[in-house]
Amino acid sequence: MDIVSDPAVMQRAALEARRLGRRIALVPTMGNLHEGHLALIREARRRADLLAVSIFVNPTQFGPNEDLGRYPRTPEADLAACRREGVDWVFTPSAESMYGIQAAVWVEVEGLGKKLCGRSRPIHFRGVATVVLKLFNVCQPHVAVFGWKDAQQFLLLRRMVEGLNVPVEMVGVETVREPDGLALSSRNRYLAPEERKQAVELSRALREAQAAAESGRATTGAELVEIVRKRIERVASARIDYVEAVSMRDLEPIGAIEPGATLLALAAFFGTTRLIDNARL
Ligand code: PAF
Repeated sequence: MDIVSDPAVMQRAALEARRLGRRIALVPTMGNLHEGHLALIREARRRADLLAVSIFVNPTQFGPNEDLGRYPRTPEADLAACRREGVDWVFTPSAESMYGIQAAVWVEVEGLGKKLCGRSRPIHFRGVATVVLKLFNVCQPHVAVFGWKDAQQFLLLRRMVEGLNVPVEMVGVETVREPDGLALSSRNRYLAPEERKQAVELSRALREAQAAAESGRATTGAELVEIVRKRIERVASARIDYVEAVSMRDLEPIGAIEPGATLLALAAFFGTTRLIDNARL
């Protein structure tokens, strides 16, 4: 396994591999790898000859009052996990080498980036789209793998790829959950024990709404939202940021549920920890 921190070195190696006809997969991460990331890595491993995992806590996707400083960094454990999974390249750039003098060049996916999480995190998706396009240019993947846990991120990046004719196949992998249903996230470790217990209600609320849709008891987006809100509002330590039922095409709120194209998404705070989760219907 090669650990590469210089973008120019990484790009040269990737271009050379391409010249030799090798197929490259990329899993972009911010490190602190957990089973959710490992599911992405395993999916990517199956899809290519060479597998790159990037580990970069991208400063441009954090707002001024967000958790950039305390975001968990576990480089040794991450490298050990990558080794175990048969990763070929771990790309670990510094912020200076990624942005240097170019920080004023941004990729903005208008519309999608300002909805749902974009409302309370106004610069977040501009930072995500910019860094992912840069990672694509550096690592030259044929295929890139992301988690449906960050559904808005995945839909927005897919739109970026379509809109800018980026020749990368985009693959989404289902959310990996704790046995009680809580979606895995690096931010779960911020939760106090009581908050952790109560956070399980997010996935239970989504499941209840999903079951109501499947049985025909809920037929509209508003009914789905009502089911989820009611359940989370009963949780003492939770403060809802948003609950929305939207179309996966444009992230606009839906009237009637559109089977196969509906995203029920939420964000809620437990203390200062903001968690997200979603269900696709
Ligand atoms: O999902 C993440 O971990 C990040 O947003 C990503 C895609 C690695 C970009 O920094």
